[in-house]
Amino acid sequence: MCGIVGYIGHRDAYPIIIKGLQRLEYRGYDSAGIVLFDGEDTHLSKTKGKVEDLKRKSKATIDTNGKLGLGHTRWATHGVPNDVNSHPHYSNSGDLVIIHNGIIENYESIKKALIERGYTFESDTDTEVLVNLIEEVKKKEGVKLGQAVQIALNQVVGAYAIAVFDKNKPDEIVVAKLGSPLAIGIGENEYFIASDASPFIEFTNNAVYLEDEEMAIIRIGKEIKLRKIKDDAIAYPNILELQMNLEEIEKGGYEHFMLKEIYEQPRAILDTYRGRLLADQGIIKMAGIDQHLEKFLNANRIIIVACGTSWHAGLVAEYIFEDLARIPVEVEYASEFRYRNPVITENDVLIAISQSGETADTLAAIKLAKEKGAFVFGVCNVVGSSIARETHAGAYTHAGPEIGVASTKAFTTQITVLTLVALKLAHEKGVFSESKYHEILTELESIPAKVEKSLESNELVEQISEIYKDSSNCLYLGRGYNFPVALEGALKLKEISYIHAEGYPAAEMKHGPIALIDEQMPVVVIATKKGHYEKVVSNIQEIKSRSGRIIAIVTEGDVQVKELADHVIEVPEVSESLSPLLTTIPLQLLSYHIAVMRGCNVDQPRNLAKSVTVE
Ligand code: F6R
Repeated sequence: MCGIVGYIGHRDAYPIIIKGLQRLEYRGYDSAGIVLFDGEDTHLSKTKGKVEDLKRKSKATIDTNGKLGLGHTRWATHGVPNDVNSHPHYSNSGDLVIIHNGIIENYESIKKALIERGYTFESDTDTEVLVNLIEEVKKKEGVKLGQAVQIALNQVVGAYAIAVFDKNKPDEIVVAKLGSPLAIGIGENEYFIASDASPFIEFTNNAVYLEDEEMAIIRIGKEIKLRKIKDDAIAYPNILELQMNLEEIEKGGYEHFMLKEIYEQPRAILDTYRGRLLADQGIIKMAGIDQHLEKFLNANRIIIVACGTSWHAGLVAEYIFEDLARIPVEVEYASEFRYRNPVITENDVLIAISQSGETADTLAAIKLAKEKGAFVFGVCNVVGSSIARETHAGAYTHAGPEIGVASTKAFTTQITVLTLVALKLAHEKGVFSESKYHEILTELESIPAKVEKSLESNELVEQISEIYKDSSNCLYLGRGYNFPVALEGALKLKEISYIHAEGYPAAEMKHGPIALIDEQMPVVVIATKKGHYEKVVSNIQEIKSRSGRIIAIVTEGDVQVKELADHVIEVPEVSESLSPLLTTIPLQLLSYHIAVMRGCNVDQPRNLAKSVTVE
């Protein structure tokens, strides 16, 4: 969590940093700060609140000139969100300035030792401890900033992406990474530093992503010097040419990123299977699978680890892999898996799913599985992310940048990738006939158009949202492939509208949640034709006879549910295994409209962050 931005070069740093922070605000938005060096001195402004608040405050209170600067948007870990705890932080002498994304776990013992040596602290943050530790090392050892950073980082436990400079040596910024992302944009006689490439994409396509335990000394007019933090070995920068474009990270006429991203799904799904799915030839080409086919075919089982929405995609994948490829699957919350001493063998394949590719628990689960000898395959959206690098092989979703904090297009593209993997393995194993295989491939190709059609329900969903926007609870029910979709629908509603919502397998309702049903309780039921339809209809009847209000997602042309439900939203007909790609759409729209009507900040819901790099 937290977003960091830095600039050193020939342009004014202020507008670059403010704009960069706005683009990174999805990573944390409870406070923000900026420091600029104007050639003589530093000027610092920080505030509780959004980057917009910082912009107002800094313009009014500090000199915003300078060709060197650092900025930070915060998601609080140590210390409440307030002006003082916001970054950047100065060292006691006022010479060093730091921004930090991550957590220093052993900060208390370091702080105690520094206090004994006379240091004082203004904030409650672990970051202020780190910058003073660097200062102490620098003074005590008589070393340069780069070396001081390195020695200090070898004393800390935790995660970090940091950028620090010394105002007495304003031609250099030192950066380092462990567990939190850090990209360096390389321009002509200028460098950019950021948590992802979005702050500098209009200036340069060339970037270096630091690996864990690497640090870099960025000097104006010099090439970047990379080294390993632990043993001081020289590392060589791998300069990537980025494909991202500016349009992808702007709202493009939509009121919110979330709505834009919901509407991008037909394209995102197409981009995800484009070049991989050659339906007419009956071919699925995925390098990450092709090169390791034996691992998958000989696997005892597949273990899927993920968090949040990505975990829901994992649950859908469990149905897909078991149903289509007949491979046993277990789906685990990454945070539980890594702490429960799981039995993992060399014959297991672990699939890690993550939009950001930075989720700390998922990353830790990967490391654990690798230690035990399992083969690890990643499904990530962010190219070059930590999870993408840490896995043995993988497949990217090509959803494009997802900026709305609530995940939408990442979910459907994750399901698309996992469907391709399952179909490929099913075909290799000869699970079903050639004609059946071709039939599913062709149907998969029809999905973008069907998602487009599902989006046509937007107006109707908006009207329904008006009716239920003031509800205080909501139940989501689904069966089979659509049980995880019910979970995902409930998560979407609660995270952006703050309405309490629960997802349940429809048949489980009578084992408890049915007690909640009365005329105040909206129940969203996924009741598509292919998928235990009759059973779901019985569940709907159970709700109706207790006066629950029913919003049903049905297959186009449905008549039976129409007679029972208060509202029906149609999606095109599709096989059960592909239905989550369609049934999810109206649920995303429902949560979106309800949240907008309740006046919630849809793209930046309270207390959340897009990239959860703390455990
Ligand atoms: C919900 C949401 C989160 C993420 C979760 C995992 O809309 O976005 O639940 O799915 O934090 O994040 P990634 O996929 O980046 O590992």
